[in-house]
Amino acid sequence: MKRRVMIDCDPGIDDSLALMLALSMEEELEVTGITIVCGNSPVDMGAANAKKVLEHMGRLDIPVFKGAARPLEREYVDALDTHGRDGLGESFLPDVAGYDQDMGAVDFLEKTVKEGPCSVIALGPMTNLALLYQKNPAAFAQIEEIVSMGGNFRSHGNCSPVAEYNYWADPDGAALVYEAMANLGKKISMVGLDVTRKIVLTPDLLEYMKRLSPDRGKFVEKITKFYFDFHWRQERLIGCVINDPLAVAYFADRTLCEGTEAYVQVETEGISIGQTVVDSMGFYGKHPNALVLTATDPVRFFSLFFGRLLGLEESGLDLIPALVKEVGR
Ligand code: RIB
Ligand code: CA
Repeated sequence: MKRRVMIDCDPGIDDSLALMLALSMEEELEVTGITIVCGNSPVDMGAANAKKVLEHMGRLDIPVFKGAARPLEREYVDALDTHGRDGLGESFLPDVAGYDQDMGAVDFLEKTVKEGPCSVIALGPMTNLALLYQKNPAAFAQIEEIVSMGGNFRSHGNCSPVAEYNYWADPDGAALVYEAMANLGKKISMVGLDVTRKIVLTPDLLEYMKRLSPDRGKFVEKITKFYFDFHWRQERLIGCVINDPLAVAYFADRTLCEGTEAYVQVETEGISIGQTVVDSMGFYGKHPNALVLTATDPVRFFSLFFGRLLGLEESGLDLIPALVKEVGR
């Protein structure tokens, strides 16, 4: 059944790949709008990058709304060292003129959930969602479901020993959203580093994409080259971890990931700021507010990712299993 969804993101290279996937899943998703939050890129840059992706996909009919320019409490810290000076892998694609909205992201989220069932796939810091809760808790409660790329359970952090960037960049926003979900008796699907680290786009997979679809493959190559270089410098990894597309794929196909329900809190200060404290053993006796995903199948993900992005039958993508890198981390 087709579901209405808003994508809240901070494009961002992997956010851009996630947007491309979401727009290629028209049987499953109706993307009602894209809301931008400061994260990888400052909010204006993120909005510009989202429009560049929409233009490539021929979908400038999808509205883009600018949201928070800084976190709830902390100073804003970008991730341009990872995503390039333009936030899109230093592809320096030309800006798309026009298509600006006079409504802000939080107002769009509030309006949309009032119109009918709509979910949010959150791919960046959760500042916009936190601001919506502060502005109108009833509207926040009307969000059908939240799937969030963020956090980590047993996997180490990626911007501190224990914290993942989205929740580290705005720990107060993340903490407020998890607490709000606990109070509502609802659960966030936490697509964290435990599963996204398994999703490694390798040079061979990229070459396969280019062979199957030169136009799409060359665009992906253009925006990911910087990201490949970053992963080599940072982790001696030949490939790049594409976190955000897994959250989109999981939203559409829940069999892609497995996990455990738990009460989750986000630390907002001290040396472990941004850490997701996952009470998987029930020490606190609190009702779970999250489904923490802990296992995924990279071959199934890439079959879906390629199939949808390239418009091909998954059965025809016979090279995928041999090209997927099994990562043990
Ligand atoms: O930690 C990875 C997450 O932070 C991804 O969503 C990436 O795009 C950045 O936002
Ligand atoms: Ca992101």
